[in-house]
Amino acid sequence: MSAAGGRAASAPLMGGESEPTLFELSQPGRSSWQLRTTGMPEWDVDELVPASHRRVAPVPLAEVSERDLVGHFTRLSHRQFSVDLGAYPLGSCTMKYNPKLCDTVAALPGLAAVHPGAPASLTQGWLQILVELEEALCEVTGMAAATLQPAAGAAGELTGLLLMRAYHSARGESRHRVIIPDSAHGTNPASVTLGGYETVTVPSAARGCVDLAALRSVLDTDVAGIMLTNPNTLGLFEEDIEAIAAAIHEVGGLLYYDGANLNAILGVVRPGDMGFDIVHMNLHKTFATPHGGGGPGAGPVAVSPRLVDFLPGPRPVRSAPGAADEFGYMTPPHSIGRIHSWHGNALVLARALAYMQVHGGDGLRRVAERAVLNANWIRRRLAGSYDVPFDRPCMHEVVLSAATLRKKFGTKALDVAKRLLEFGFHSPTVYFPLIVDEALMIEPTETESLQTLEALAEALETIAAEAAAGEPLDEAPHSTPVRRVDEARAARTLVPTFDAR
Ligand SMILES: Cc1ncc(COP(=O)(O)O)c(C=O)c1O
Repeated sequence: MSAAGGRAASAPLMGGESEPTLFELSQPGRSSWQLRTTGMPEWDVDELVPASHRRVAPVPLAEVSERDLVGHFTRLSHRQFSVDLGAYPLGSCTMKYNPKLCDTVAALPGLAAVHPGAPASLTQGWLQILVELEEALCEVTGMAAATLQPAAGAAGELTGLLLMRAYHSARGESRHRVIIPDSAHGTNPASVTLGGYETVTVPSAARGCVDLAALRSVLDTDVAGIMLTNPNTLGLFEEDIEAIAAAIHEVGGLLYYDGANLNAILGVVRPGDMGFDIVHMNLHKTFATPHGGGGPGAGPVAVSPRLVDFLPGPRPVRSAPGAADEFGYMTPPHSIGRIHSWHGNALVLARALAYMQVHGGDGLRRVAERAVLNANWIRRRLAGSYDVPFDRPCMHEVVLSAATLRKKFGTKALDVAKRLLEFGFHSPTVYFPLIVDEALMIEPTETESLQTLEALAEALETIAAEAAAGEPLDEAPHSTPVRRVDEARAARTLVPTFDAR
C-alpha cells in the first residue's frame, strides 16, 4: 500500500481532501521514461568525475509512471483558479483573459525554436518582430526609443533609475533623491533603493492625487527625478500631471512614468506628450500574458530623445532599411549595459506584438475604454454596499473599502475576499493600497462582459448582506478544496521542503 493510504492515484479529489505529494505516490521501480540502448561505448565514469565528487547512492526522487504524474498535476490544476476559468478581479495585477491567438503565435516553431545567439542573418524575422514591437510601444507612449530587455515591471523600474543616474552623471551632476507619492506601487521605492537613491515620499491630497504643495516643498537640485504611478494605486489619474512635470523639470529632474497599467490609457493619452522622460510598461499585464504565477513577464522601458544614448544594448535595429538583411544590432554610445541576457523574455514580446497587431490602433483604444468603463460600472453599482473612499471617476480599477462592514458587523476585507471564492470569482486585492483602511481593490479588466460584472457585483452585494445578517464570514470559504489557511503562521514558519524518508 502506498503512503497515500491506498487511494487510487487517479481518483478525483473529494472536497477538503489533499493531494498526496509525488513522493507519497511513489512506487519502487516505477518510471515515466526509458532510454534505448544506443550501442555506444560506456563512458569511463572514474575518468570523468572523481569518486570523491560522486554520489554514493542515487538521489531519492519520486518513482511514478507518466500516467500517475499527469493525473497528479491535473488534479492539482483542478484545485486552482485561473484566468481561463473565470473573472479574476485582483486589483493592480491585471489578471485578464488573454487571447489564445497570442499563445499560438509564441508557440510557432520559427519563433520558439530559434536560439537567440543565432547570427542576425538567420534571425531577420525575429529581429523584425522586436523592432516593430519597439516602434509600436514608442507610438503608444509617445517616446523616442525603447529597450525590450527588462524581464518585468520592477526590472524596468531599476533600468529606468540606472538611466536616470547615467543621464545626471553624464552632465557631471550627482543627485541623491527620488520623489515617490504615497499612492505609488510598492515596487517603486524598492527600485529606488536598488538604484542607489534615497526615496522622498510625498503625501496624497484629499482627492487622492499628489499634494502639489507638499511636492514643491521637497524640490531642489538634489532631486534626480520623480516616479509617478499613473493611474495611481487608487485607480485615479493624476490631475496635476502637467504642473508636476513642469515643477520637476524646473529643478533639472527627470520624470519617470510607471506605466505598468497602460491598459488604462492606451490610445487615449501618451506619457511622452505629458512631458515624461522614462516609462516602463508591463507587457504581461497590458497586452497578452497574464501577470502572476511566477511566469515570465516583460517590462520594456521607453525613453525621450535625451536618454536614447544610454539605453541597454545591444539593441535590435533597422540597420539597413530595404536591404536583404535589413535588421541588425547596435549598442548606444553611453549604454548602461545589459539588463537581461539576449532580448529579454522574447516569447512574451512576440505575444505582445501579436496582441497589438490584432487589435490595431482603434482596438487598443477600445481596450482602455472598456477597462475604464468596467471599473466605473463596479464603482457605481457597489457604492451602496461598500465604502468608496474616493468616489469620483476612476480609471481601470476601483478601490472600495470594508471599513463600515468591519465597524458595524466585524466583517473584514479579508472575509469578503475569502467568501467571494465560493461564488466562482477570484478574490480582489485586499489591504492595498496601504493608504485605504480595509481596502478591496477591484480590477474587473476589459475582458469581462456586463453579465459577468453583474454576477460579480451581485456576489459582493450578497456578501455584504450576509455580514449584516450576522453570518460567520470569518470562517469562509467552506466549499473550496483548500479552506482558510493560517497565513501568519505560513509566513512565519515557512517549511518549503518535504522529507521524502
Ligand atoms: C503600478 C505597478 N508598478 C509596478 C509593478 C511591478 O511589476 P512586476 O510585478 O512585473 O515586477 C506593478 C505590478 O503589477 C504595478 O501594478
